[in-house]
Amino acid sequence: MLYSDKVMDHFNNPRNVGVIEDADGVGEVGNPVCGDIMKITIKVDEGDRLEDIKFQTLGCGAAIATSSIVTELARGMEIHDAAAITKKEVADELGGLPPAKMHCSVLATDGLKVAIDDYLTRHGREPIGGPIQSEDPHFDPHGDAAEEHEEACDL
Ligand code: FES
Repeated sequence: MLYSDKVMDHFNNPRNVGVIEDADGVGEVGNPVCGDIMKITIKVDEGDRLEDIKFQTLGCGAAIATSSIVTELARGMEIHDAAAITKKEVADELGGLPPAKMHCSVLATDGLKVAIDDYLTRHGREPIGGPIQSEDPHFDPHGDAAEEHEEACDL
């Protein structure tokens, strides 16, 4: 499996690792196939912009690299824009991901979305909602995609 230089850079030197203790929103998601998990904590300013964002990921190289790049992409963004970041944008920003590892990238975008919804809900505001891809009810854990993913889990 060939990871881009940028993936390797973010895997070896992940940015914004940690937990914001007095976070305004917290998102925790898990990948049902491999059991990998990630947690994102956010601080939001009065203009609804992400002023700080940190993550912890227990997962493969692609999961760590995508989490790291998502924190860089989202920092300073308005929350609705940040919640709309797609796994394709994340993969493109990293110079591509091997097809079998694309599924790993949903942890980071999902975690961010859940954290933003947590922030909105805490303030009595309407959550953005929408599908959480890592909890896709149509995802077949015994299907081809799952099998491919499991084979790629150690990479
Ligand atoms: Fe589990 Fe990548 S997130 S193998």
